[in-house]
Amino acid sequence: MKIEQIFKNNQTWVEEKLGIDEHYFENLSKGQNPDILYIGCSDSRVSAEELMGVSPGDAFIHRNIANMVPNTDLSAMSVIDYAVVHLKVDHVVVCGHYYCGGVQAAMKSADLGILNPWLRNIRDVYRIHSKELDAISDEDQRYRRLVELNVQEQCVNVIKTAAVQRAFRDRGIKVHGWVFDIKTGQLVDLNIDYERLMKDVMEIYHLD
Ligand code: CO
Repeated sequence: MKIEQIFKNNQTWVEEKLGIDEHYFENLSKGQNPDILYIGCSDSRVSAEELMGVSPGDAFIHRNIANMVPNTDLSAMSVIDYAVVHLKVDHVVVCGHYYCGGVQAAMKSADLGILNPWLRNIRDVYRIHSKELDAISDEDQRYRRLVELNVQEQCVNVIKTAAVQRAFRDRGIKVHGWVFDIKTGQLVDLNIDYERLMKDVMEIYHLD
């Protein structure tokens, strides 16, 4: 894609939106009130808004390699805090995807430089669930399962944050773990029992 084409596309999009509602952008500029915080992978094939069918203003979005929520990552922690405390979203979604290069890289032992500490977070997920994963003989199935377990563990990391614990107690915020299947286009709900996870986590990470 040529960069000039992007600006042409933008102009077409502006005209389309204004054709439907002449105050569209003026209204957008007044503020945002999204219901969902979406944390997903940076993968170019997993376009968050498009696969959910949501419009500008509907979802607060954070993307990084392999949809990670490391406890010490200032960017992810700031996004969660802002979305939960200030925007008061009702749902936090961690969305992984099959065929995730980040997860695949973490399953191999190659030295990837600056990516090593980032991928180590995924290797930690493998370690936590090594018994289940090592019992899967088919490598593709094991890879798919690690994608799912990684989503689950990142949901646990979301739940560990003070902002989400308080929002759960005060207004019943919900945490969801999803996987997008690039090969079919389907969004799969992993039906993570976040209330049980919340109770387990709050026993250890409890805040007054
Ligand atoms: Co990915």
